[in-house]
Amino acid sequence: MSTLPVRLDRADPRPLGTQLADRVRQLVLDGGLAPGDRMPASRRLAADLGVSRSVVEQAFDQLLAEGWLEARRGAGTWVAGGPGGRAAGLARPARRRTPRAERELVMMDAGTPWVDPRHAAVWRRAWREVSSATPPRGYDDPRGLPELRALVAERLGRTRGLAVDADQVRVTSGTGAGLRHLLAVLPREPVAVEDPGYRAAVATVRESGREVRDLPALEPVHDLAGCAAAYVTPAHQHPLGRVMPAADRLVLVATARRDGALVVEDDYDSEFRYDVAPVPALATLDRERVAYLGTASKAISPSLRLGWSVVPDALLDAYDAHRSLTHDAPAWPVQRAMVTLLRDGYVDAVVRSARRVYAERAPRVVAALEPFAELAGPVAGMYSTWLLPHARAVRARAAAERAGFRVNLLRDYCRTARLSGLVVGFGGPSDAELDQALAVLVSALDRS
Ligand SMILES: Cc1ncc(COP(=O)(O)O)c(C=O)c1O
Repeated sequence: MSTLPVRLDRADPRPLGTQLADRVRQLVLDGGLAPGDRMPASRRLAADLGVSRSVVEQAFDQLLAEGWLEARRGAGTWVAGGPGGRAAGLARPARRRTPRAERELVMMDAGTPWVDPRHAAVWRRAWREVSSATPPRGYDDPRGLPELRALVAERLGRTRGLAVDADQVRVTSGTGAGLRHLLAVLPREPVAVEDPGYRAAVATVRESGREVRDLPALEPVHDLAGCAAAYVTPAHQHPLGRVMPAADRLVLVATARRDGALVVEDDYDSEFRYDVAPVPALATLDRERVAYLGTASKAISPSLRLGWSVVPDALLDAYDAHRSLTHDAPAWPVQRAMVTLLRDGYVDAVVRSARRVYAERAPRVVAALEPFAELAGPVAGMYSTWLLPHARAVRARAAAERAGFRVNLLRDYCRTARLSGLVVGFGGPSDAELDQALAVLVSALDRS
């Protein structure tokens, strides 16, 4: 053991003096050395560390110059800031507190998907391919990798009835980014968003400096006057669950045409239907009036930060000009991996498996909670929404949280709508966790 808890590494390419200075600096920051602590004599420290004295002197000189140490001729060297030192007034750097271990909650929200681990081999292959490919030397195509756009276009045609080609698809960092890019090229007028509705969309619209108008979530839209756009979730109203009826779709598109507004279709989890086939995208009704936003967050993982947009032709030039300026596209490795995941059938396979799991879990959730609450809409995707008095919902949510599960309050999705209840997801937990969480919710609801 040296006179300081320091070890130098001769395999480290950094000079020994630099290593020593870095280590002492860190000791001061971590509280291992306190202001006023005396540093060992350079000769002794050099001997302890097995280095020449000039290495220690070089490190001390550096730290003296930076103000971490101070020295008095003939008296030695101290950590700065101690009593009597020149920098006595210096506050001692706060000892970094290790955050108390936070118990991880099992997410039973609307957005955590179940991903079948049996498909992990393709996932690994995708990243191996990324690691052996050569990244582009400069900024990449701001629209997204051409091969990725072609694969997304093919999949949109096959799964969403949306006949588009690669030139109409733009790769985004998810739904939020897709909305931000559209807002960048739309008039600075209010945007109508469903109420209750997707909170991230509300926040994104507000961040753009626009007012959010409330669209009652289950009513036909007859008025978009003065709005730049209407943001809707027609395949699976978020969070009430309803599929927008065909008649309401026609009314919405006709209203948008008449009032000169764009419809923004958030198609976040449309593939996860298990009662009927996925309803075709709203954008199939009018590609020039409806901008389509898709995401990999539900099929693969929200942490991938990847999505895609189909942008009306009239907006494309301005949209592309904005993106080439901001370079706001997903990182190349993520796009490159997604090419493999789509090409080798990973996305289709995880969607198929997850659909089966959700189809099995949804009735379990319904059977457990139905005696206590009313379903807000049909169950699809990876969550169910339950209407109940707010106070009961709050108590049930608190009980779930104490047991380690996070469910959401319906009130948190509402702006002017007066709805209350719980949003209970079933993609995040394991089977055993789901049973446990349902038992906790049932017991809390039974008592209140
Ligand atoms: C309504 C809705 N839209 C979109 C998303 C996905 O957003 P992103 O693609 O930005 O992850 C979610 C995720 O929870 C959602 O609930």
